[in-house]
Amino acid sequence: ISRSFSSSAVRQSVIKNVTIIGGGLMGAGIAQVAASTGHNVVMVDQNDEILSKSKANIAKSLQRVVKKKFAEKPQEGEAFVSDVLNRLQTNTDAVDSVKNTDLVIEAIVENLDVKKQLFAALDKAAPQSAIFASNTSSIPIKEIAVSTSRLDRFGGLHYFNPVPMMKLVEVIRIPETSDETFNSLLSFGKAMGKVTVNCKDTPGFIVNRLLVPYMMEAVRMVERGEATPQDIDTAMKLGAGYPMGPFELTDYVGLDTCKFIMDGWSQKFPDNPLFAQSPLLNKYVAEGKLGNKVGEGFYKTKK
Ligand code: NAI
Repeated sequence: ISRSFSSSAVRQSVIKNVTIIGGGLMGAGIAQVAASTGHNVVMVDQNDEILSKSKANIAKSLQRVVKKKFAEKPQEGEAFVSDVLNRLQTNTDAVDSVKNTDLVIEAIVENLDVKKQLFAALDKAAPQSAIFASNTSSIPIKEIAVSTSRLDRFGGLHYFNPVPMMKLVEVIRIPETSDETFNSLLSFGKAMGKVTVNCKDTPGFIVNRLLVPYMMEAVRMVERGEATPQDIDTAMKLGAGYPMGPFELTDYVGLDTCKFIMDGWSQKFPDNPLFAQSPLLNKYVAEGKLGNKVGEGFYKTKK
């Protein structure tokens, strides 16, 4: 069988300077891995306090990497950490941070208006050639991209928590994304040491499109009185070989996060039963049982 594709036929620019907007859970993870893989990174957040906390978390996480990867060579490990931290700058001014960037990855709060406002401002300041990407979990990439004049240089890079551990990045194209841009994003994902999958701009991309309805159907099974959360988790772990049951997973992700995604989807696609609201999930969220982060969700966990 002859291979019909040729990667060399499609132009792609090499991404060296990366700006990560948002230094929270995801942004810090993305910044850490991008700097660890030789990229020059600027991480942006709203103030220096958040940024120094975020940098401290990255330093801690790097120490864990070093313990594993450089167990026999602690000196090389130290050099690695200082190299990575040297490649990682911080800035509180997003517009200033993109002046020489090749790629912007946005990982700020999951709010369309805030994201659009940010990208509109960055569009005016970033080089013409710079590619913009969002890490959004639940907002269509196109709805964010229209705030810019670079739809052909816009896409999605959807990472998974915790970023240093999870091997996957979903690379998303909108109809306007050029082949050159898409190939650059795929190459960048691989340069970060991740495995990439090609996605279209559809709700939940691949992973969440399958995972969230699965978690919600588990909740509905409990609503219908068919089984307990404990039995469903045991069944899926031992019968389907999943590392976590759906309720353990929902507690880990956060019940509020699941509700947020479901609210968006059920509003947009009111006729799809897979996206229907769950009274039980809504009740737990209203009671503040948000999952592991507060010590109680479907299960009581130690905080
Ligand atoms: P987070 O709340 O931990 O971090 C968001 C950060 O963005 C905060 O530090 C906040 O100060 C900062 N921020 C907010 N508005 C800003 C602005 N205008 N300019 C600069 N910084 C700003 O949130 P998290 O979990 O890191 O999520 C970020 C994005 O990643 C969201 O779009 C979310 O949907 C997506 N995502 C989250 C995943 C998760 O497991 N938490 C997984 C994959 C994607």
